[in-house]
Amino acid sequence: MIERAVAVLRRGGLVAFPTETVYGLGADALNPQAVRRIFAVKGRPADNPLIIHVAGAGQLRDVAREVPESAWVLAERFWPGPLTLVLPRHERVPLETTGGLETVAVRMPDSAIALALIRALGHPIAAPSANLSGRPSPTAAEHVLEDLQGRIELILDGGPTRIGVESTVLDLTTSPPTILRPGGVSPEQLRPLLGEVRLGGEAAAARRSPGTRYRHYRPRAEVVLIERWEEAKHRPLLERLGARAYRIGYVGRDRGISFGKATVHLVELPPDPQEYARRLFAIFRELDQQGVEVIVVEGVEEEGLGIAVMDRLRRAASRIV
Ligand code: TXA
Ligand code: MG
Repeated sequence: MIERAVAVLRRGGLVAFPTETVYGLGADALNPQAVRRIFAVKGRPADNPLIIHVAGAGQLRDVAREVPESAWVLAERFWPGPLTLVLPRHERVPLETTGGLETVAVRMPDSAIALALIRALGHPIAAPSANLSGRPSPTAAEHVLEDLQGRIELILDGGPTRIGVESTVLDLTTSPPTILRPGGVSPEQLRPLLGEVRLGGEAAAARRSPGTRYRHYRPRAEVVLIERWEEAKHRPLLERLGARAYRIGYVGRDRGISFGKATVHLVELPPDPQEYARRLFAIFRELDQQGVEVIVVEGVEEEGLGIAVMDRLRRAASRIV
């Protein structure tokens, strides 16, 4: 199957493949025509850069013009794994891949299938998450099919992904380094190696102005996020929601939740960040299939992986209470 996939990539085709975070939609990172197809197939804005996947830190020099000492240290500690490093772009990497930027984002995924594919191709693979732009990220091959069937050549099915939220994107071209997107590696894990780390970019913007960030991770149903449950405050809200929707999904602890006349599809999920990360995007898709109109989600503690989970929930939500 890897041979077939490599043949597809060599002729400029697209192959979806598993990583430890979410499924990626891969093309040869050094082939600009192939990379352009990724944007077309996903409906992704051309200025949103892609992550380049490598099979080891040895490939860093092939895609980055300069590799600071901190990059080697971080790669040694966290690769293969959910940490993406932003570095100065090597001229070999086409601007299509970097969305026109003079930087590249690179990571080594922790998945035997992904690594075998990159090694067999002999080139790094550019891959965004393998969903239609704006939809929940795919954590199983079925999710990729749901969004992209008929538009891509091949899907390598490696079963459900282990982590479930995307990698942490860390910009090493700023001082101190900046977390552009929280993910599988937490700021607490990075600090001992880097000293100061700033939370910036999209992550900070989403926190400051949840209403203005662009659409991301959204199921068809409207998402209402309850950051921290309080009986007195939230009971009236649930009743109001129940008065306008027939079917509601509730994701969180079962407290004998009722929503007036609405049918509640309860997904009982203890507020454990690991569990949430692993299951959240799949739950969004399942509730959509059940025809749910509103999904109410309880938040988790904003620590460790919980930081990434809350980032995704805030972006998915049209209402935060
Ligand atoms: O876990 C992951 O990171 C998954 C798997 C497939 O590896 N990939 C993924 O890709 O989530 P995508 O395209 O959905 O998200 C890539 C993120 C975007 O927020 C993008 O803006 C950022 O990385 N990014 C990519 N290149 C960048 C660059 N040169 N500078 C700043 N941000 C960059
Ligand atoms: Mg994505």
